[in-house]
Amino acid sequence: MKYVIGVDLGTSAVKVLLVDRQGTIRATASRPYPLFHERSGYSEQNPEDWVRETKTALAELVRTSGAAAADIEGISFSGQMHGLVLLDGEYRPIRNAILWNDTRTTEQCRNIEAALGEDLLAIARNPALEGFTLPKLLWVKRHEPANFEKAKLFLLPKDYVRLRLTGAAHMDLSDAAGTLLLDVREKRWSEEICRRLGIRQELCPPLVEAQQLVGTLLPDVANETGLRPETKVFAGGADNACGAVGSGILSAGSVMCSIGTSGVILAYEDDKDRDFGGKVHFFNHAKPDSYYAMGVTLSAGHSLNWFKETFAPNASFDELLQGVSAVPIGSKGLLYTPYLVGERTPHADSIIRGSFIGMDASHALSDFARAVMEGITFSLNESIDLFRNAGKQVGTVLSIGGGAKNETWLQMQADVFDAEVISLNNEQGPGMGAAMLAAAGCGWFDTLRECAQSFLSYGVSYQPDPDRVSAYRELFGIYKEVYSQTKTLNERLKSFRV
Ligand code: XUL
Repeated sequence: MKYVIGVDLGTSAVKVLLVDRQGTIRATASRPYPLFHERSGYSEQNPEDWVRETKTALAELVRTSGAAAADIEGISFSGQMHGLVLLDGEYRPIRNAILWNDTRTTEQCRNIEAALGEDLLAIARNPALEGFTLPKLLWVKRHEPANFEKAKLFLLPKDYVRLRLTGAAHMDLSDAAGTLLLDVREKRWSEEICRRLGIRQELCPPLVEAQQLVGTLLPDVANETGLRPETKVFAGGADNACGAVGSGILSAGSVMCSIGTSGVILAYEDDKDRDFGGKVHFFNHAKPDSYYAMGVTLSAGHSLNWFKETFAPNASFDELLQGVSAVPIGSKGLLYTPYLVGERTPHADSIIRGSFIGMDASHALSDFARAVMEGITFSLNESIDLFRNAGKQVGTVLSIGGGAKNETWLQMQADVFDAEVISLNNEQGPGMGAAMLAAAGCGWFDTLRECAQSFLSYGVSYQPDPDRVSAYRELFGIYKEVYSQTKTLNERLKSFRV
């Protein structure tokens, strides 16, 4: 039996999967690493932590699976997007990575808009948002000039891990699209953006397709992990692109809802000129010559994690969610907005913060837990609304991630989205997409679609219920008002944040 490995470099942990030629997961391993929030709005990680924990997870995977290293043909990656890893001439990180959920770069976003005007949307197909990589580069240039001078190359998180496994530096197009430095249509670095913002183009790494073979394992890495040095390494893609590959979002009309730390609603596109006016992200897919549009809720799973850690630290997730199905729609008049670190879609706003509206003394823990789930789902529904308003049909949504692990939440998605919601059997999220890139790269299949047909099997379908749809529609109207009603209050509270 032959195998491939998918590495999913997430925000809270790295997860590795060993997958066989039938698409069956034969073993998994996962290792956490810390996040550093030195100040409000800051979010960093130490790239060395990713490398160490990825190698440890790979070694555990090889050891526990009992698979012969000679049968493991290829490995590929899915990575948290946008994080800036700045390297010196010896490929050593100059500072901690600044992550996708770091919002310190509002001033740099305004500078980008002033320098590029409408050309930004025309070239990069996306507006300047705090989470993207270019504003982070400009922040380092402005606040840490010595670090910027030392920099010889920048990479994104999974590209840095791959560099340390192979010795070769590359970036794939699906991840490069999230830097704001890529000419998304032409699939090359934009000289125009670099020149007008004073970024040396030599800082940008060679571009490759997600499925491209980029090398093999360094002998030391092979030694440490138990893999063979001949193991083929394929570039891999952005986590959302890989989540889409791993859920078969590979043709027109398919839509995915993914709830990880962040939450996204993602729609496949093959028209590179499709124009959403910057209201949703527009990125290159991990499938060659295709694209996707996407709305992002910054704190989706993060909201539920935060809620549990803060208010029920000793409960398991199952215990926390146990009572939720018995709580009526609307959580007995309690509404939550998930703006723990600001928001992206539809409100690109780094200052807004979350709210519980409507608390009374009768509310118990399970009412709050349901309100958090409803608030996350309403936020994702704002992206669905944007797609529908732009003329896209959203009839069926493929749900993955934390939101697909709980039946009450799946039904809630169907009722809030007013769409059929389907989950996958044995869903593994972006890690499966990474494994599929390796499987197609190894030549097991001619195309990713063929691979998806063979690897993926669809599970239960959840249908929207007309009564619940109309109750949620009313609540959604109230939910949408919370943003405008709390915006100025949060601006005034900003000076009290530490
Ligand atoms: C997408 C985004 C997040 C990260 C999470 O634009 O910022 O979904 O990719 O890893």
